[in-house]
Amino acid sequence: MGKKILVTGGAGYIGSHVIRQLGEAGEDVVVLDNLCTGFRDSVLYGELVVGNSGDRELVGRLLAEHDIDTVMHFAAHLVVPESVEQPLKYYGNNTCNTRNLLQCCQEAGVRNFIFSSTAATYGIPEEGLATEETPTAPINPYGASKLMSEWMLRDLSAVSDLKHVILRYFNVAGSDPEGRIGQRTPNATLLIKVACEAAVGKREKVSIFGTDYPTPDGTGVRDYIHVEDLARAHLDALEYLRKGGDSTLVNCGYGHGYSVREVLDMVQKVHGAPLCIVEEERRAGDPPRLIADATRIRRLFGWRPQYDDLEFIVKSALEWERKLSEIETMA
Ligand code: UD1
Repeated sequence: MGKKILVTGGAGYIGSHVIRQLGEAGEDVVVLDNLCTGFRDSVLYGELVVGNSGDRELVGRLLAEHDIDTVMHFAAHLVVPESVEQPLKYYGNNTCNTRNLLQCCQEAGVRNFIFSSTAATYGIPEEGLATEETPTAPINPYGASKLMSEWMLRDLSAVSDLKHVILRYFNVAGSDPEGRIGQRTPNATLLIKVACEAAVGKREKVSIFGTDYPTPDGTGVRDYIHVEDLARAHLDALEYLRKGGDSTLVNCGYGHGYSVREVLDMVQKVHGAPLCIVEEERRAGDPPRLIADATRIRRLFGWRPQYDDLEFIVKSALEWERKLSEIETMA
């Protein structure tokens, strides 16, 4: 096989799913995670090094010791309201650390860089639909911190041999269909996660933030993508770069969306019992609708999602949540 892949943030939700798929594909991975929000036992393949992705000495050493052709960079903070309250935490971890990591990559001659970005870079796009050409206008420090990293990557690639793929994630949900790993973030804010926590009794209720949006049922609409399909996009990006593809930026979503009410109806259906749902005011900074134009990722990478089905997404999220409650009860 030869070249190895350095995965930062590989003990987190999306990174751990990508590592599992890379391991299953026979790739050799080195995982760097400071375990501030990740979990050691979510890393199913490769060597785990505990440390920061912005630690130049450590990263420089890892790149020198291993024959790494590709870096996949997941390590980041990602809670939007927290980013509003503590902007420097986000610019420090997401932007400054990425800068240090990129410097190490440049010094070590790393060829490929795959970067976890976000639809939050678009802010509130017109009509709620974002193509990769839609102007970026983040409305919170989280989105801005990721966009600044995109710019650094773009500018570095322009003057070096580094090639990159930027993946702008839409709303990620679900878990490993075999139930080995899933989302474990405490104090989760994501809708499907919150609703599943309510279903297993970890929360008393689920709130609908805003029922007066200009959408068919008045609630927010999002493009929910299963984490397995999102993880697959990283392997497709890797293949694309290794075959000599040019640096690019792609949206990761299915190209259609569901409202908050549709999601909650599905959680209740799959759970087989009603949830306690309360209607509340709009949450600050939420766009009414955010859907990916996902043409480019299919065309460039030949990405073919397998789980574009809300029922499947909710089932896998709920199964994982049930398992997680068992694990937590035993601990
Ligand atoms: C998520 C991502 C963000 C990304 C965006 C892309 C995180 C933390 N956020 O944010 O990075 O840019 O997707 O679309 O990864 N809602 C409720 N009740 C709840 C929780 C949410 O009604 O308890 C509603 C929200 O108002 C929104 C929808 O559900 O309309 C989705 O919200 P959420 O799951 O929090 O994701 P985003 O805010 O879209």
